[in-house]
Amino acid sequence: MIYKMFSYRMEMNILWLILFGLALGQIDDSSDCDDKNWHSLENETTARNECGPVFENRCLCSRICYDGRHQYVVNCTDAGFRDTQPLENLPSKTQVLIFTGNRLEKLPWNIFGTLDRIPSLRVIDMSNNRIREIHGKSYHHVQNVQRLNLDYNELSLNSQGNHPRVFSNFVSLLQLHLTDAFEDGSADDLAETLHEIFVNSHLDRLIKLHLEQNEISGFRDPNVFCNLPNLLDLHLGDNQLTSLQFNLSCLHQLRFLDLQRNAFTKVQDRDLKILDTFAKHNQSVTIDLSNNKFECGCKLNPFIKWMKKTKIIVRNKNYLECINHDGHRKSLQETKNCSSNFVSISGTRGTTVAIIILTIILVTLICALVYLQRAELKNKLAPVIESVNKRVRYTSIATGEARENDV
Ligand SMILES: *[C@@H]1O[C@H](CO)[C@@H](O)[C@H](O)[C@H]1NC(C)=O
Ligand SMILES: *[C@@H]1O[C@H](CO)[C@@H](O)[C@H](O)[C@H]1NC(C)=O
Ligand SMILES: *[C@@H]1O[C@H](CO)[C@@H](O)[C@H](O)[C@H]1NC(C)=O
Ligand SMILES: *[C@@H]1O[C@H](CO)[C@@H](O)[C@H](O)[C@H]1NC(C)=O
Ligand SMILES: *[C@@H]1O[C@H](CO)[C@@H](O)[C@H](O)[C@H]1NC(C)=O
Repeated sequence: MIYKMFSYRMEMNILWLILFGLALGQIDDSSDCDDKNWHSLENETTARNECGPVFENRCLCSRICYDGRHQYVVNCTDAGFRDTQPLENLPSKTQVLIFTGNRLEKLPWNIFGTLDRIPSLRVIDMSNNRIREIHGKSYHHVQNVQRLNLDYNELSLNSQGNHPRVFSNFVSLLQLHLTDAFEDGSADDLAETLHEIFVNSHLDRLIKLHLEQNEISGFRDPNVFCNLPNLLDLHLGDNQLTSLQFNLSCLHQLRFLDLQRNAFTKVQDRDLKILDTFAKHNQSVTIDLSNNKFECGCKLNPFIKWMKKTKIIVRNKNYLECINHDGHRKSLQETKNCSSNFVSISGTRGTTVAIIILTIILVTLICALVYLQRAELKNKLAPVIESVNKRVRYTSIATGEARENDV
């Protein structure tokens, strides 16, 4: 009898263990989309209801295939929200939040509430929401978020509400998307502000940064990316850059540098050297310079020669084009018949040497002249020196008197 009860208990325990395991499996929910055993009983109506009343049936909350895995996605695309109020009641199992095409303008403090309710959240897509201002305390409890997308917003940099700590709670962030994220005309201050943000946000794990379409023509602060020690891919396509004005030597993990559709007319020797330092450190780096505004001609020769021998991988190197005098595009080819680099360098060096020699001759001549005319000069200068001496004496007497009077 006792034995029977014991075995019954054992069986119950095993049953519980199995159930518990199943539940764990569901929490882990990394079932990929090819999983044939995966079935969903949800339809659009149930998905809308599932979000809860605060979402007013405007969103879809369901487990769907996202990024190749079945994940719990809350999708509020073009839902017409004017604020982030509903997000305080985000279903606690949410893994992916898509909140795009709404009109938010300003993100208040703690958009996900003050409690740590959404530990599974991995992806936040808040692109295209006309967001102007993000408060330093807007994003809390996002310690497991790996991807943040703020593309196509109107973030303001110059306003008083400049919050360098906006991303400081994203301690696990791997990807940051800021394509066309800033208001127009803010490009000048962008580098400085970005650097300040990166310094204050400790995005130590970040591997991908997207900054396309931001009208960036330069970085006033060359070390803008130096606080992103693990950056692999830096996307700067569709900007106005003409050279590598930013410090790359601090990016020890860099793998891909996207500079498509910028404003390079040539590539400076300095930039080629910087790129070659990666190769020297055995760092395999790919650079994409497609569709820039290269000008055909002698100035492009160093770049063309460099491409033939460098270990840096130049993407689509055989399809690069330059613009001819007549405005036509043609494929890159070394221009023959240029006065070679060596001649031009030695030419400028020759001028410098000539100027130095001439200056020395001039100085010598003046000295000789002064020496030869020294007697005459002495006569002429004697009265002047004397009068100066006198004046000095008078003024010292005067100040001495003044001091006595003061006492
Ligand atoms: C959605 O599913 C629910 C319950 O499974 C069912 O009652 C409802 O009729 C379904 N709606 C549609 C439109 O299929
Ligand atoms: C989110 O919803 C929109 C429309 O409601 C749809 O077009 C889009 O594909 C959805 N996104 C995902 C990832 O399901
Ligand atoms: C670039 O970064 C490296 C490493 O952080 C630093 O040593 C160097 O001085 C920087 N260069 C410039 C021009 O700021
Ligand atoms: C780069 O790799 C080569 C051969 O694989 C090796 O000889 C050289 O020491 C490496 N250089 C550095 C800086 O690691
Ligand atoms: C090179 O320059 C010389 C004169 O400077 C000219 O006669 C010749 O045609 C040029 N050759 C080419 C291929 O342009």
